[in-house]
Amino acid sequence: MRIRTFDEYQAAYNHSVEDPEGFWAEIAQEFQWRKPWKKVLQWNFEKAETKWFPGGKLNITENALDRNVRERPNYPAIIWEPNDPNEPSVTFTYKMLHEYVCRFANVLKSNGVQKGDRVCIYMPMVPELAVAVLACARIGAIHSVVFGGFSAQSIADRINDSACSIVITSDGASRGNKQIPMKDTVDDALIGCPTVKKVIVLTHTRTAVSMLKGRDVWWEAEMKQVTSDCPAEEMDAEDPLFILYTSGSTGKPKGVVHTCGGYMVFAAYTFQNVFQYEPGDIHFCTADIGWITGHSYIVYGPLLTGATSLMFEGVPTYPDAGRFWDIVDKHKVNILYTAPTAIRSLMGFGLQPLEGKDLSSLRVLGSVGEPINEEAWHWYNEHIGKGNCPIVDTWWQTETGGILISPLAGITKTKPTYATLPLPGVQPILVDENGKEIEGNGVSGNLCIKFPWPGIIRTTWGDHERCRTNYFAAYPGLYFTGDGCLRDEDGYYRITGRVDDVLNVSGHRIGTAEVENAINMHTGVVESAVVGYPHDIKGQGIYAYVITESDPDHEVDLIRRDILATVSRIIGPIAKPDKIQFVKGLPKTRSGKIMRRILRKIAEGDVSNLGDTSTLLDPSVVDDIKSGALVEV
Ligand code: WTA
Repeated sequence: MRIRTFDEYQAAYNHSVEDPEGFWAEIAQEFQWRKPWKKVLQWNFEKAETKWFPGGKLNITENALDRNVRERPNYPAIIWEPNDPNEPSVTFTYKMLHEYVCRFANVLKSNGVQKGDRVCIYMPMVPELAVAVLACARIGAIHSVVFGGFSAQSIADRINDSACSIVITSDGASRGNKQIPMKDTVDDALIGCPTVKKVIVLTHTRTAVSMLKGRDVWWEAEMKQVTSDCPAEEMDAEDPLFILYTSGSTGKPKGVVHTCGGYMVFAAYTFQNVFQYEPGDIHFCTADIGWITGHSYIVYGPLLTGATSLMFEGVPTYPDAGRFWDIVDKHKVNILYTAPTAIRSLMGFGLQPLEGKDLSSLRVLGSVGEPINEEAWHWYNEHIGKGNCPIVDTWWQTETGGILISPLAGITKTKPTYATLPLPGVQPILVDENGKEIEGNGVSGNLCIKFPWPGIIRTTWGDHERCRTNYFAAYPGLYFTGDGCLRDEDGYYRITGRVDDVLNVSGHRIGTAEVENAINMHTGVVESAVVGYPHDIKGQGIYAYVITESDPDHEVDLIRRDILATVSRIIGPIAKPDKIQFVKGLPKTRSGKIMRRILRKIAEGDVSNLGDTSTLLDPSVVDDIKSGALVEV
């Protein structure tokens, strides 16, 4: 499955388009299956239905663990770097990881978890998070990891949406110089979660926690009660492997479902080819396992490849802004995969944090999560890669399971800010507003994909119709990504950002509707409208226009802080608006629709040309908003 030259890439790409089933079947053969599939692919985009390798039986952990225990038992699988640099790092070989996962899988079973049950995991970036994920996969339970930055309310919403029967958490988390409660937050969440019968709590920060008799058990105590012998459950290729919640342009976050077979093949294939992993390499992906990047490129992709994956508990600026470079130096990292927002924030500290750090082990650099700007691209290239490391700007989504458009490291000629070319098996197409294909080069449009790849979203948990309307209805017959995209004269793709009402704040996906709903829950708020604006470090910042009942001139600062507290409580601190402007009215059309275009322009500080405002019910609100805008114009 490994591509080594650009000619091989082109050959693989052509093969994948001419004979997709033959192409993917050949790659899937390289994995360990208990029973062969009956068909390679069944699909119908009109109904949002895709099945890869149906009838094939496997367990992803036999591929990620057992196979490697046979072939390279003492090879490091996970290296864990703690938040505090003075604490020792920990290495798990494949043999150790296998044993740890099997033992914890038995703990899940002894606590009543069965195949098909949903398991919520809310944990810091400790090895036990990866272990919990893999233990679920071992016994066929469906994991639903919730990012540690989400509030109790968000956890509860996710638990209830998929009726989880158990939660795995820790006492607390250490991030930089902060100690963050985890079990406490779970306790708050569980007040409204009747389906949860058990909570397994890992001791990590030694924070005091309450342990409810009959419901809460300690990870360590449970591990002593079981053996490490746990045969893997036989799964159908199309049985769900996990649910991961993500934000869309409307309503509550939706549970994106990925299945065992296709996801396995795609995560491993993309990992190997994009990063060009070589035996002995240390792969350091700085994402959190609470996001899809961590699922696919910290846990599954690397382990399925028999690679060494470095997991970091802390933040890039603790104890100082040289921490990433210390880690690269200490562990001789070869592949570094991070987000533009991290690069931009570290750029702000200048070159001093790089002094004395040996970065010569680096061979490949990766970027993910948001468009990378020229300046960040060049800084990354010159100061981190020393001009010697290809940058793979990888474009993909929670829904795609793995990378779709990206250079292959050292193989595809890169171009700053371009994700370049589609991976084999990926057929991008640009369309205009009416769904008409925009052909040729030097064009831009809405990015769709016209043929299924093995990692494509299968459904949204509990509501298949939502999956259909969200991704397959805008342009019949196509998967719509929600992103705008440019294809240049060379046929290279550059993702320009979301064209829907989804924000990308520090690489975190947040729906404007979600933030509005949270703001509207604050007492006294009549209505709000949220838009994104360009932010030097975060990529996008959150700008909220809020109408309150009372005269906002009074204690306006207090109301602002109360709104921030409300958003933190309802969604989590990551969704707090950067700017809140109190307004008397919002620009609405006669049919009551908010004209976000105008609000976006004002938030961007571009009030010179607001376009046609004649369809507004009350054009005077625009002047009012302009005069109070929180931007330097
Ligand atoms: C954006 C993260 C430009 C895009 C893997 C997409 C990117 C959304 C890139 C998905 C990139 C991701 N260049 N934009 N290299 N990678 N995006 O689901 O808008 O958290 O739709 O998945 O991030 O975010 P998600």
